[in-house]
Amino acid sequence: LGTLMRQKLVDFWRQLFVLDNDNIFEINGSLLLPESVFKASGHLDSFEDPLIQCKSCKSMYRADHIIAQNTGISAEGLSLEELDKIVEENKIVCPSCKGELDKARQFNLMFSTGIGPVSGNKGYLRPETAQNIFVNFKRYASFMRNKLPFGIAQVGKSFRNEISPRNFLIRVREFEQMEIELFFDPEMANKFSLFDFVEDVEINIVTKGMQEKEWSKPLSMSVKDAVEKEIIPNQVMGYFIAMESEMLQALGIPKESFWFRYMLPHETPHYSGGNLDLEVKLSIGNVEIIGNAYRTDYDLKKHEKASKSTFTIVSNNKKVLPHVVEPSMGVGRILYTILEYCYREDESRTWSWFKFPASIAPIEIAVFPLMKKDGLAEYAQDLHLDLKDAGFVSFYDDSGKIGKRYARADEIGILYCITVDYESLEKDTVTIRDRDSTKQARVPIEDLEDVLDALLEEELTFEELLENQKNN
Ligand code: GLY
Repeated sequence: LGTLMRQKLVDFWRQLFVLDNDNIFEINGSLLLPESVFKASGHLDSFEDPLIQCKSCKSMYRADHIIAQNTGISAEGLSLEELDKIVEENKIVCPSCKGELDKARQFNLMFSTGIGPVSGNKGYLRPETAQNIFVNFKRYASFMRNKLPFGIAQVGKSFRNEISPRNFLIRVREFEQMEIELFFDPEMANKFSLFDFVEDVEINIVTKGMQEKEWSKPLSMSVKDAVEKEIIPNQVMGYFIAMESEMLQALGIPKESFWFRYMLPHETPHYSGGNLDLEVKLSIGNVEIIGNAYRTDYDLKKHEKASKSTFTIVSNNKKVLPHVVEPSMGVGRILYTILEYCYREDESRTWSWFKFPASIAPIEIAVFPLMKKDGLAEYAQDLHLDLKDAGFVSFYDDSGKIGKRYARADEIGILYCITVDYESLEKDTVTIRDRDSTKQARVPIEDLEDVLDALLEEELTFEELLENQKNN
């Protein structure tokens, strides 16, 4: 079920950001890259987290995490000296043996390996999908006939040797990203034609200024205002931010639960000229699930220098080294958020259930015979196969009492259960049971596919279906 949901999420992103867009194409780059790539990109020098080790039991912790747990102080991005000072002043000791902690030191998060049988030929598992795109920039630019703006998208695994993985899908060493590098002429950063379609989208935002004081509630404003007030660095990022806000809501995450926060200088990655992270309120605290980085020409310049070649292109009769905006989404983190926000426990049923929208539900419909006997099972099996042929993700179940089968379907978020009963044999009608209200409507078999399509596409509500029935 998790795999089906993951696939749906990736397909949803692909449709929205890649297939619906004439200037964004997807690639599938390698996971393993030579050291020279990461020397050039800055990851070898700067992609690190502060590590602190217990002098007695040798357990290791992330220094900023252990500080946050003990004092509530947000210590991300502080220098080693600042971290040591907080540990000392707050008398923080090893959580497992209460031993004394050593001084903090930096720990590079990349997994290293040797490439081929030659010694000294070091390589790394990629810590972000992005670098494949930068090193191949000239090739992609030529595919795109050197015409800016264009985007290269990629979905795939990235690897980080996290000091303390935790919280299920939230912090893991092997994770999946959906990333886009959108290349544009910096002089056109605020003339991005796609922005016109989304400029009125209202988003929740936490500005730099708000973070100088205690902030309790994000501001709500249109992306147009946010770009004009320079809270969002440019229209290119404004476009992605608006789309992300719409995408999460379509996946069942309520708008009041997330916001875009301007990252403070000590929180921004080494390549960034301005980051706005999408943070969401979860039971485990506020978590970044999408990062939007204005990477400027940082990466292309770095790879130009290291490869002693030029990445300048002639686009629209002008020489330009493109700038880049990068929306980077964590597949696992978004899935985790959907699970939390769609989970339901209510008085009217004794089982918990998931209120997944059709856009993400792993299985959309189920077909049940009321009983296995008298030809009901055969009728239901045929119907299930027909519905699968018609493209529905359908599940067949004939074991146990019908109430139990409805409960099982609710537990995995199936939206509609179709039941074949004795009336089906006589009149070719079936019942559709709605997950959210638990109400049932009876429809003729010949209308079933159209009705299900309309319900799943949200062109028809279940209440409207019941109303139509009454009027007929
Ligand atoms: N490419 C951005 C990140 O991995 O965080």
